Amino acid sequence: MKIFIDTANIDEIRKASGWGILDGVTTNPTLVAKTGRSFDDVTREIVKIVDGPISLEVVSQGTNEIIGEARGLSKIHKNVVVKIPITKEGLSAVRILAAEGIKTNVTLVFSPVQALLAAKAGATYVSPFVGRLDDIGQDGMGMVQEIVSIFKNYSLTTEIIVASIRHPIHVLRAALMGASVVTCPFGVLESLFKHALTEIGIRRFLDDWAKVPKL
Ligand code: G3P
Repeated sequence: MKIFIDTANIDEIRKASGWGILDGVTTNPTLVAKTGRSFDDVTREIVKIVDGPISLEVVSQGTNEIIGEARGLSKIHKNVVVKIPITKEGLSAVRILAAEGIKTNVTLVFSPVQALLAAKAGATYVSPFVGRLDDIGQDGMGMVQEIVSIFKNYSLTTEIIVASIRHPIHVLRAALMGASVVTCPFGVLESLFKHALTEIGIRRFLDDWAKVPKL
């Protein structure tokens, strides 16, 4: 399973990229706005730090406008994946961009059937938002399980990015289901390393090592 970081914060990306486990980055307009910096500045830095898929989202609504914006984004760097919300206009654009060899990540997916449509249109990735479904009392990871089954039934090659992750259990369940990718906020990524017994174990080893006679 690939692990992406879901942020546009350069410090977070830099730190996480040093941890030996980072495969890519996903952003969205909200995450870029949180940085207080321009989209161009942020994206040009991200592509230099991480050598893996970098999702950058379009803000256009019409098919032709989405295509134009996507072509521009794809020219920023070879690793750019264009993130496009699931709408009729968006999927029309995905079909055309796929034929041009431009990679896409269809986002704001909240149902297995939406994911099926994205895959049919030729999306490289599909991003089901699990946390936002949990927030309204629905089963986010249940949706992912159904997407995994549908893609398997029809040998669809679109990769599933489990997004809107809130905690390590989302990551565990995604791995057990065989999802291709999880994209985690910085805090969740950091928490994946932690276990109380690991910390206690390190402390005990260091304490015991201090008792070993040194030559
Ligand atoms: O990648 C999608 C993600 O950014 C949405 O997360 O926490 O805003 O629901 P959240």
